[in-house]
Amino acid sequence: MLKNSSRAQPDPALRHTMPRRRLGGAALAAAFSLFALSIAWHEAHEPGVPASDDLPITQARADAAAQAPNAAPAGSAASDLVKRGEYLTRAADCAACHTADKSRPFAGGLPISTPFGTIVTPNITPDPDTGIGQWSDADFMRAMHEGIGKSGERLYPAFPYTAYTRVTEQDVLAIRAYLNTLTPIHYTPPANSLKFPFNQRWLMMFWNMFNFTEGRFVPDPKQSAEWNRGAYLVEGLAHCEECHTPRNFMQGLKTSERFSGAVQAGWHAFNITSDKVSGVGDWRDDELVAYLSTGAAPGRANAAGPMGEVVANSTQFLTPVDLRSIVVYLRSVPAVSGGETRPRHQWGNPADDVTALRGTTITGVNGAQLFLANCATCHSWTGQGVGASAPGAYPSLIHNTTVGASSANNLAMVILHGVDRTTTHADVLMPAFGDHLDDEQIAAITNYVTKQFGNPQATITAGQIAKLRTQQ
Ligand code: HEC
Ligand code: HEC
Ligand code: HEC
Repeated sequence: MLKNSSRAQPDPALRHTMPRRRLGGAALAAAFSLFALSIAWHEAHEPGVPASDDLPITQARADAAAQAPNAAPAGSAASDLVKRGEYLTRAADCAACHTADKSRPFAGGLPISTPFGTIVTPNITPDPDTGIGQWSDADFMRAMHEGIGKSGERLYPAFPYTAYTRVTEQDVLAIRAYLNTLTPIHYTPPANSLKFPFNQRWLMMFWNMFNFTEGRFVPDPKQSAEWNRGAYLVEGLAHCEECHTPRNFMQGLKTSERFSGAVQAGWHAFNITSDKVSGVGDWRDDELVAYLSTGAAPGRANAAGPMGEVVANSTQFLTPVDLRSIVVYLRSVPAVSGGETRPRHQWGNPADDVTALRGTTITGVNGAQLFLANCATCHSWTGQGVGASAPGAYPSLIHNTTVGASSANNLAMVILHGVDRTTTHADVLMPAFGDHLDDEQIAAITNYVTKQFGNPQATITAGQIAKLRTQQ
């Protein structure tokens, strides 16, 4: 999903005139306009039913004003609000998209590549000119809940308002209170480069019709408080579905296959439904909690790539109570089978061919030999790793979900980009091999590793490695 290459930005003046020629008929435009008018009419006449836990906005704003940092007397209520806001901002992982450069936190500038072009994240620091310093709380609330910007423009769903719409008004205001305390950064990110017609923001109205349900989270009285908390976090703030639920042709979430896994920017966000074979149904609760809080569940999985970032930026900071709630909720997600025959973490055997390889002259690209030369110092030639299950250990490649997955994508991505995950538990670093090894060599190591330590059906070609390289 995230792409760090910066593309040439088209002249903003041209964006609106030039591509219009590709429209292919005024009829389409007329149809869209009629459609738009009818929607506008419906929107004006059918106000949404407010969710039960919704404070009236005026009430919420009054509460927030009473607690605002500059409201006298500056008491602990204000700092509590900001602290809660910081916690929620982490749970929502706003930094993942709005921090492109660590020296400019929350100032945006991260290009997000979508099938329709590149969207660059805006500056959400309180800078009045380039950030959201001049936004009222109501403007901010509308963006989070409805996906509408300050001037009434439709925001693109690369901003996960589809999930944030579930977040309560109190929590949105706490996030705002925290963002208000950030150092304002004067920085204007580059413009989006979306193809026509996707550069027409108003068209998101149609997208929303099919793919967006506005409304706050409504607790299910039949479920426990823990389940409800977990559902609130997973479906709303933590937006886990943005990566783990497959998408339809419009890039909307396929709600019938929730959490059953999806590929984004080359990474496979695995099936995390309660299915015992294809999902995480056979993980223990403490393993799921360990994975989310440290990025490692020894003997099962490690978090690399986008999930490594989720752990480092977001889930490691969640309280044990919130983590347990997430697990309780995940347990209840209906199982979706992916057709796998064995859980991802149940593949592989230690290697025993090192003696055969030593002293043999091998010609051509050989996966076993490349593995010995590049990987065995840390993962051992047997593939069993070093340091066993201690945090920050070099993990075993046997019984590891990335190696046992039915697609070799994530393994190849791990070799290309390495692992770099900092948590309070450990600074985890595996070097990236993308610059040192060519496509054929990486394909050979990947195929050796899946055959020897993982799922032998997961193979990859040099051509596929070349494609994966263009993803980040
Ligand atoms: C998955 C990436 C992603 C995450 C996570 C994310 N955003 Fe954004 N956000 C975007 C993108 C992309 C846009 C620009 C959308 C557009 O141009 O229409 C955006 C736009 C916004 C805007 C509108 C700003 C403007 O100038 O129009 C606000 C406000 C905002 N985000 C706040 C937040 C907050 C607060 C969080 C965390 C609760 C958050 N975002 C999390 C990607 C993200
Ligand atoms: C930005 C995309 C993204 C988001 C958001 C995200 N995930 Fe993931 N997740 C991934 C990817 C990619 C992997 C595979 C990581 C790997 O192979 O190392 C993964 C792996 C996992 C795994 C391990 C599955 C396995 O079999 O190894 C669990 C559990 C998980 N995610 C849970 C969650 C939860 C819970 C959330 C929300 C709090 C979440 N994820 C949010 C992308 C994401
Ligand atoms: C300098 C030590 C080092 C070297 C060399 C190294 N790794 Fe790693 N590897 C690590 C560390 C550290 C981790 C992350 C452990 C964690 O997540 O807690 C890791 C993680 C992994 C994972 C698990 C990723 C996941 O998402 O579950 C795989 C697979 C892997 N390495 C394969 C390889 C391969 C193949 C090579 C050779 C091309 C290699 N490693 C070379 C240290 C190393």
